[in-house]
Order: sequence, then C-alpha cells, then structure tokens
Amino acid sequence: MAELLKVTNLSKHFKLTRKDYLKAVDDVSFDIQKGETLGLVGESGCGKSTLGRTLMGIYQPSGGEIVFKDKKITKLKKKERRGLCDHIQMIFQDPYASLNPRMTVTELIAEGWDIRKKYDKKTRTKKVKELLELVGLNEEHAERFPHEFSGGQRQRIGIARALSMDPEFIVCDEPISALDVSIQAQIMNLLIDLQKKLGLTYLFIAHDLSMVRYISDRIMVMYLGSVMEFGDNDLISTNPLHPYTQALFSAAPIVNPKQERSREQIILKDDIPSPIDLPPGCKFSSRCPKATEICMQKRPELKFIKDRYVTCHHVS
Ligand SMILES: Nc1ncnc2c1ncn2[C@@H]1O[C@H](COP(=O)(O)OP(=O)(O)O)[C@@H](O)[C@H]1O
Ligand SMILES: [Mg+2]
Repeated sequence: MAELLKVTNLSKHFKLTRKDYLKAVDDVSFDIQKGETLGLVGESGCGKSTLGRTLMGIYQPSGGEIVFKDKKITKLKKKERRGLCDHIQMIFQDPYASLNPRMTVTELIAEGWDIRKKYDKKTRTKKVKELLELVGLNEEHAERFPHEFSGGQRQRIGIARALSMDPEFIVCDEPISALDVSIQAQIMNLLIDLQKKLGLTYLFIAHDLSMVRYISDRIMVMYLGSVMEFGDNDLISTNPLHPYTQALFSAAPIVNPKQERSREQIILKDDIPSPIDLPPGCKFSSRCPKATEICMQKRPELKFIKDRYVTCHHVS
C-alpha cells in the first residue's frame, strides 16, 4: 500500500483569552495508506472533529505538517491548496445542519463545480443525475430542497456533494450517529460500496467503538488531543495495550455472550481534566487505574511497541 497522507506533530490550538489556549489537537502524528479506512475513536471533546477539519483545510494548523500525495499542503497558498485539496472532502455528522436549506439538491451537489465554472448546463444536469444514482437517490429528487428529505436521504445528499469533487480521501465525521438506528446500516453499506467502487480512502470518526471496529483496517485512539494507541484493528481489538484503550474496549458490547460474562469491565473515574490547563504528566493519569508517580510528572511519548504505537510509561 502507498502512503496517501502523512501527518507530523500536528497541533490545532484555539485561542480563548490573551493567555489561554485550548489544545484541541496536540502534537499528533500518523499516516493514512491509500485505500484503507482508518478509524478514529475517542470520547466526545477529544479533538476528533478538529483533527478532521484541520486535514480538510477548514482550520489552519497551529503547528506541524500535513503531507498529501507527497506535497506539503500546510505550506501552500490558498489558491494552490484548493486544486489539491479538492481531493480531500468531508462528510458531516449532522445532515440537518450541514446542508443549506435554501439550495436545491442540484445546487448543493453542483456548488463546487459552479464556483469553478466547471460544467455547462447540460453536463451539469447529467453529472448530478449520475451522482444521485450512485448514492441511491434518483432524478426526481434533483429540484427538491433538503427539508423534503429524511435524515438518511439528507446524508446521501451530503455524500453526493462530497463525491462531486472526485475526492481520493474522505473524512467521515460520525456520519451515522445523528441518524435513526434503522437506517444507520444502509448508510454504512453505502460508504463501504462507494469505497470499493471508487477506491476511496477514509478517516472514519466515531465516539463509540462498535462501528469503528466493524469498518476499519487500522484504529487510532485519541484522548484530550493526543494519540494514545494506533495500529492494526485486529491487533488492537484483541490485545489493546494502553489502559485507556483497554477501558474503551471493555465498555464496548461484544457479540459472544460467553466472553461477555467472563470479561471484566474497567470503569474509569469520571475526572477528565480541562483541555485548557493540562497537568504536566500523562493526560490520562487522572483517570488511569495503572497510574504511578512518573505518570503524574512526565508526559509519555508515542512509541512503537508490539507492532503498534502507544503512549504509556507502563507499556514496554
Ligand atoms: N472553534 C472552536 N473554538 C474553541 N474551542 C473549540 C472549537 N472547536 C472545538 N473546540 C474545543 O476543542 C475540543 C475538541 O473538540 P472537537 O474536535 O469538536 O471534539 P470531538 O469531535 O472529539 O467531540 C473541545 O474541548 C471543544 O470544546
Ligand atoms: Mg466531533
């Protein structure tokens, strides 16, 4: 597999007051291989969407580097970035909030083309029709407005909109968590089909593990803006090494009831520190069942141990 994206020491800090910064993404490094699905998981507020938005170019990074297809996109001027970054698109969590209610489906899907004056009217109509079919909608939907659709259909429109720019890489930011459980599987299957058909690469974001485990080739676990563990899905699912990953997996339902009875659920102290004023040691130390003196004092580094990356003083 070839590398599509490489992220090195990436940070996104939000300035709150003159001296307070919120480190939403804090010195994060990872890579994404062409054609894979990388699952990004962590509790709400840990920086998943901020990371996705920074990759997408919605946010300017505070530090670090993003290399996409061997080009440093962090250093590009806006105009240069645009041509390249058409190939990075995002599907948003809330299909109700992410579509402009005053635009028709055609206008929503064709917006990127219209800005770039890409197609004449006839080609535009034809292309919209093709995209609608690709995402499981039809021609009759083209002139309607978002409010005329169900949540699942709206998410299909959002997907068609992302696909309109012929992306290679799509950040799927909790694409099913706002949808009815009954239609979540349909949207998941659509995303999986599209990946096969179009050779797409996904960063698939979720706050719960079940969907990430189902769809991902590799998994990245985040906590308060930092990567805690990162590696092969099967490896991490069967043998998580970081105490935080262990706690996440112990809380996720598993299918085998025998295993269900025998496994021990790790309950974390509900003591998440504020991301504005982080203690000097390991970010997870205040909740970690295995924390010792060193964890309170020294921030652990991401290390390659037992075939995956892990950030913990006690894993060796
Ligand atoms: N535009 C913003 N300005 C200030 N703080 C923000 C902004 N966006 C997100 N945050 C903060 O950054 C942290 C990470 O948020 P987010 O990336 O949305 O997390 P997640 O997607 O994992 O739930 C949170 O503490 C959140 O309050
Ligand atoms: Mg989010």
